[in-house]
Amino acid sequence: MTARIGVLTSGGDSPGMNACIRAVIRAGLVHGYEMFAIYQGFKGLVENQIEQVDRRFASEIINRGGTVLRTARLPSFLQEDVQKIAVANLKQHRIDTLVIIGGDGSYRGASALSRLGVRCVCLPGTIDNDVSSTDYTIGFDTALNTIVECIDKLRDTSSSHQRCSIIEVMGRRCGDLALFSGIASGVELIVSSERPLNEEEILAQLEEGKQSGKRHFIIVVSEKLWDVFALAKTIESKIGIEARATVIGHLQRGGIPSASDRVLAARMGAGAIEALTRGNDSFVVGILQNHISFIPLEEALSMPRMVDLRLYTDAEQLK
Ligand code: F6P
Repeated sequence: MTARIGVLTSGGDSPGMNACIRAVIRAGLVHGYEMFAIYQGFKGLVENQIEQVDRRFASEIINRGGTVLRTARLPSFLQEDVQKIAVANLKQHRIDTLVIIGGDGSYRGASALSRLGVRCVCLPGTIDNDVSSTDYTIGFDTALNTIVECIDKLRDTSSSHQRCSIIEVMGRRCGDLALFSGIASGVELIVSSERPLNEEEILAQLEEGKQSGKRHFIIVVSEKLWDVFALAKTIESKIGIEARATVIGHLQRGGIPSASDRVLAARMGAGAIEALTRGNDSFVVGILQNHISFIPLEEALSMPRMVDLRLYTDAEQLK
C-alpha cells in the first residue's frame, strides 16, 4: 500500500480547490496515509517546497476561494530534465503518489510524471469546465455565478441607457462559461469557439433585434475570439446603438466557492483516496452523469470533449 501521498494545485486557481485539498488530506489520513503539501504546483515540486501536514492543515479552508497550496504555471515542466528533478524530490520524501488538482495542462504534467514512475491522481480544478473526463470541473459553478451576477448588474445600466453591453468571459478554448452564463442571464447573443460568429452574423442578429423593437442588447463573448472594445465601436457605427465592452477578467476566478463546487470537491477528493486504496494505477477522477468515475490517465487525456450544441439553439430560441 502507498504510504505517502503528496497534494498540489496547479495552473489557474479555482474556487473549491481548498475544499478539495481538505477532502484529499482528511480522507488520506483516515485511510492511514501520510499526507504531504506541495506548494506552488509543479514549481514547488521542482523547488522541493514539500512538507508533511496533519488534519488541522485542512481546517477552516472549506469556504475559502483560491488555494492555500498556492499555484503556478511552469512551462519548463515540459522538459524531461526538469521533470526528473521533481521525481528526485519526491523520492527524497519517499512520496510515490501525487494528487494533482488542476486543469488539462496539469494533467499533461501528471502524464509525464506517471511515465517516470510516479503514480498520479488528477482532479479537475479549473473554472473553464474544459476537462473531457468530467461533466463539471471544480470552480466552474462559482465562476458561472460570479459572471451571472456581473451580467445582471450590466443589464441594469444597459437597459437604462438603451445600450449594447458586450461581456468577455474566460474559458480558454471552451465556451461553457459563455454558454451557461448566457443561458442563465437570457442574453441576446452568445459567441464562443464552439459557436463562433463573424462580424456580419453578429451585426445581422443585432439589426434583426433592433427591427423587432429591442432597445438594449447583451452579448457574451468567450475570451481570445474578439477585441471586444473594437467590436463595441463597430456596433456603434454600423447598428447605430451605443455599445460598451466589459472584460470581467480574473474576478471570475475568485470568491467563496458555491455549495455545489464544495460538494463536487468533497466527492472527488474522498473518491480519489478510496480508489487509491483499491490500488488503481494513475487515473483521473470525474463525475459523469452524476456517477463518480475513475479513468486511466492516458485514456482520459485522449477523450474528446463532448459539447451539446443544442444548448446554443435553445438559448437562441429563448432570447
Ligand atoms: O484557469 C484557466 C484560466 O482562467 C483561463 O480561462 C484563462 O485564459 C487563464 O486561466 C488566465 O490565466 P492567467 O491567470 O495566467 O492570466
